[in-house]
Amino acid sequence: MTKGWTKSDWRAKPRVQMPDYPDQTALNAVEKQLAKYPPLVFAGEARKLKAQLAEVAAGRAFLLQGGDCAESFAEFGADNIRDTFRVMLQMAVVLTYGAKVPVVKVGRMAGQFAKPRSAAMETVGGVELPSYRGDIINGFDFTPEARIPDPSRMLQAYTQAAASLNLLRAFSTGGFADIHRVHAWTLGFAEHDKAERYRELSNRISDALDFMTAAGINPDTAHTLQTVDFWTSHEALLLEYEEALCRIDSITGKPVAGSGHMIWIGDRTRQPDGAHVEFCQGVLNPIGLKCGPSTTVDEFKVLLEKLNPENEAGRLTLIARFGAGKVGDHLPRLVKAVQEEGANVVWSCDPMHGNIMKSSTGYKTRQFDAILSEVRDFFAIHKAEGTIPGGVHFEMTGKDVTECTGGLRAVTDEDLSDRYHTACDPRLNASQSLELAFLVAEELSSRRDEGRRIAL
Ligand code: PEP
Ligand code: CO
Repeated sequence: MTKGWTKSDWRAKPRVQMPDYPDQTALNAVEKQLAKYPPLVFAGEARKLKAQLAEVAAGRAFLLQGGDCAESFAEFGADNIRDTFRVMLQMAVVLTYGAKVPVVKVGRMAGQFAKPRSAAMETVGGVELPSYRGDIINGFDFTPEARIPDPSRMLQAYTQAAASLNLLRAFSTGGFADIHRVHAWTLGFAEHDKAERYRELSNRISDALDFMTAAGINPDTAHTLQTVDFWTSHEALLLEYEEALCRIDSITGKPVAGSGHMIWIGDRTRQPDGAHVEFCQGVLNPIGLKCGPSTTVDEFKVLLEKLNPENEAGRLTLIARFGAGKVGDHLPRLVKAVQEEGANVVWSCDPMHGNIMKSSTGYKTRQFDAILSEVRDFFAIHKAEGTIPGGVHFEMTGKDVTECTGGLRAVTDEDLSDRYHTACDPRLNASQSLELAFLVAEELSSRRDEGRRIAL
């Protein structure tokens, strides 16, 4: 954390991807109001997540980060949150089983509302309007009124995030996440291979739990098995919102982003001298940094230093998102830069954002095979470099949507129109998410077996 930093310093820096609010008075009033509200998360929680990510950095835990591309006001409801949470628990069970290490679970939830866009304007049927930038900024409807940035949307986003977190906290500790319910997490998705594999795995876990109970092994660990830590994260894009929720940690006296446990800097907003890096460097939370193909080594080294000057373990997660077939061109040079700097980082793989394409039927989609291929390359390169593949970052939902093509239940270009509900990028559906978890678990267990062979 930089000395003398204040939460408003970003205002003096060049900013990109942020709205120009036409009504400054309304904006100021909203900022004042938000600044008085309680923070959504607490500094102690952010520090605890950082400690868990330090375990990931050391290869003793694995990070699973996932959720919507953009949360929306219209889709808000308990069922959506429950279904995404449940798929993440299922994925975590599969990953824990493969990796034999704890899985740190971080949702793109309770704050993932603001979106960077590749174009400032959008044209439909010859009409040009400002792009949709996420429900916290403007409306999805293609009308001039909806597309005007409205600061009061920040208050609605705050309320939705608070209610989402409340539910997530209840699910995490109120019995839903008890590992003994591993069978009950099986969604209705399922007469296909992966669901069968998940059921087999749940049987094995249940047997192990029964054995432990019978042998009287579990009293001390009962609490650990009945509850989970589930963390929230989002892109810290809308800095007026982030600043208004920034608080001081009463224990360390350091500033903390109160908007979510972990925040990240997007691939379009990682300018070393820009507003987003300026804000994120000053808060104590774990920070993610998206690294796309345009990341230069020089810039990257400056960012490593700025975002983690004390080289604290768990502080910085590098989220690689290069695209299938391009990981080999970029990851090795960034891994080398990390080694040259002696930087302590978590490496995570986002196989979503480098693999967006237009389907033959006109939908924005991603092909499951391209996603798999990027994940595989990520693991292979870390193996070749002798570094640790620490985690994965997915856009996914617990619902049975048809937004990404492929997977065992083979969503085709023609199927995309059936249940295409995303407010922004296409997400993996529940069964595609689970399928991916099995693949990652296989990669992790083969790595573990190899480690064992080497140790022998
Ligand atoms: C995102 O994670 O939704 C996103 C926009 O990612 P990126 O900054 O990597 O493009
Ligand atoms: Co996205």
